Amino acid sequence: MRATHDTPGDGSARPAARQRLYVNVDHVATVRQARRTDEPDPVAAAALCEDAGADGITAHLREDRRHIQDADVERLARSVRTVLNLESACTDEMLAIAERLRPHQVTLVPERREEITTEGGLDVSREPERLAAAIARLRRADIRTSLFIDPNPDAVRRSRDVGAVAVELHTGTYAHHPGGGPALAALRDAARLAASLGLAVHAGHGLTVRNVGPVSAIPEIEELNIGHSIVSRAIFVGLAAAVREIRDAMDQARETGGEWRAARAVPPAGEVG
Ligand code: PXP
Repeated sequence: MRATHDTPGDGSARPAARQRLYVNVDHVATVRQARRTDEPDPVAAAALCEDAGADGITAHLREDRRHIQDADVERLARSVRTVLNLESACTDEMLAIAERLRPHQVTLVPERREEITTEGGLDVSREPERLAAAIARLRRADIRTSLFIDPNPDAVRRSRDVGAVAVELHTGTYAHHPGGGPALAALRDAARLAASLGLAVHAGHGLTVRNVGPVSAIPEIEELNIGHSIVSRAIFVGLAAAVREIRDAMDQARETGGEWRAARAVPPAGEVG
């Protein structure tokens, strides 16, 4: 059943008091695919994440099917009680899958087979007509579209021009330079610009309990997509605790306007926490 309680993507760019946490369950499937067996099950993990406070579930059906499989997204589409955010490349095959499964949201991402993970944002200047057509096609199926982009003004403006409802700002550069600096400033500026253009603003990639604070504190960012660090941390503390830890870090940063104290952050996954 499609959730209706959490549909902020009307382009109104209201600063969300409580930032949404969408948990990406891809790497639960990565562990399963290491043995091509049936455990751990990303669908069961998604339910656990929802119970622990996730506002949505994200899964990336990659063209090479390296982690999430078609059957997983079918089951997620049926069983997710919050909302499903389907990450996919902008291909006919993926758009057809989205039209059939009708997730709450599709986040279009660039995909290169040889990459370890999504390495950069979409190049919105390449084939804007194709992107605009894809977004219109998804809109006809009542699916909101977010574009995963680098935090730069040109990409933000172009996203608005092709008709996206939302942008997800790539936090990878920031994640490799935590604590502030130009990467954080770029995220702040891009978030402000996107909101001023009426876009909903999301962010994600490489976020952890240790570095999420300053991103959570950016008022225009209403949704975070976080996967790898939660699944990593779950190995040591369990999935529910890992979700709660990052939820707490987000809430704390949101409340204090970014006053984020490393001393209160948990140790990196792998250390005794
Ligand atoms: N957002 C997008 C668009 C992504 O492609 C990914 C990685 O799949 C994430 C967020 C989550 O990144 P991470 O697994 O590093 O938290």
